[in-house]
Amino acid sequence: MNEVDLRSDTVTQPSQGMRRAMAEAEVGDDVLGKDPTAARLERRVANLLGKEDALFFPSGTQANQAAIVLHTRPGTEAVCEAESHVFHYEFADAAWLAGVQLHPVSSDRGSLAARDVVTAIRPGDRHHPVTSLLCIENTHNLHGGAVVPLEAMRAIRELADRRSLPVHLDGARLWNAAAASGETLADLSSCADTVTVCISKGLGCPVGSLLAGPADLIEAAWSVRKRLGGGMRQVGILAAAGLWALDHNLDRLPEDHARARRLASGWAAIDGVKADEPQTNIVMVDLEREDLDETLVAGKLEELGVLVLGAGPGRLRAVTHLGVGDRAIDLAVQALADVLAS
Ligand SMILES: Cc1ncc(COP(=O)(O)O)c(C=O)c1O
Repeated sequence: MNEVDLRSDTVTQPSQGMRRAMAEAEVGDDVLGKDPTAARLERRVANLLGKEDALFFPSGTQANQAAIVLHTRPGTEAVCEAESHVFHYEFADAAWLAGVQLHPVSSDRGSLAARDVVTAIRPGDRHHPVTSLLCIENTHNLHGGAVVPLEAMRAIRELADRRSLPVHLDGARLWNAAAASGETLADLSSCADTVTVCISKGLGCPVGSLLAGPADLIEAAWSVRKRLGGGMRQVGILAAAGLWALDHNLDRLPEDHARARRLASGWAAIDGVKADEPQTNIVMVDLEREDLDETLVAGKLEELGVLVLGAGPGRLRAVTHLGVGDRAIDLAVQALADVLAS
């Protein structure tokens, strides 16, 4: 049976062209000196994001956490969105690595409102921890790949400037935010001091993320990465995939978004299923029947060759990516209809 893997956009297989680029990459020891291909990718990503410099990381989690370490001091507090990746999925690393407490703030579909962030920023008196950082996420994973609009990000930037706070943007899927909103990567990134982007998601690379920001912070990020065991040697083999992906896979992201919309509308037409229109490549559906939970339905879908993940009680998550074509969407729509009919 053909498997339709909608668990995440991280499941992509590197294409032949990408594998060739990796095999042919010019490489060097990136811990002893500089790997030339990694340096090219770092420069290219820094330019795309309008930042002075960038550094290749093995994962988005490590890049986010390095940013938190760099911006904060132990015993301080970082404000983040209540459903954010840094809060839910990074193993309380901010506490473990940076000695920082996270202060989650609820939002409308991932867009933090400046008025809510104002109340979360501590008054700077003798009774409260000191607020040291604001973290935002775009697109927002748990809010179904929602795009945080540029104006909302600008409002956070202005607030941060008024309060002399740095902003870190978890832009693991910033590529999708730019493709969906029509804003440039540089304009979106201009609202943050540091930005994490992942090449391992919609861009289809096997491994890798980058942290971009001011040259002095990125220089300091090198030591944090080394301390975390993230110094990589001939890392140009991985960076070559990123360069290839920027040339071949960035412009095709709207295809993933269109397929996500088609999947959501196909599923929403099934009795007992509610699906909001996705803004990018993540589809969230709610099962409205009490006799069905997400684990049961995901298991039944798997028997029909369709893989999705549970995303909370009664909720399923499906993500489109370059390994999912139109036929796969048809199969996934039919499979959920069959599961609910059986
Ligand atoms: C929004 C967001 N940030 C960060 C990450 C972490 O990336 P990685 O899995 O490379 O650590 C993810 C991964 O899914 C993510 O969705």
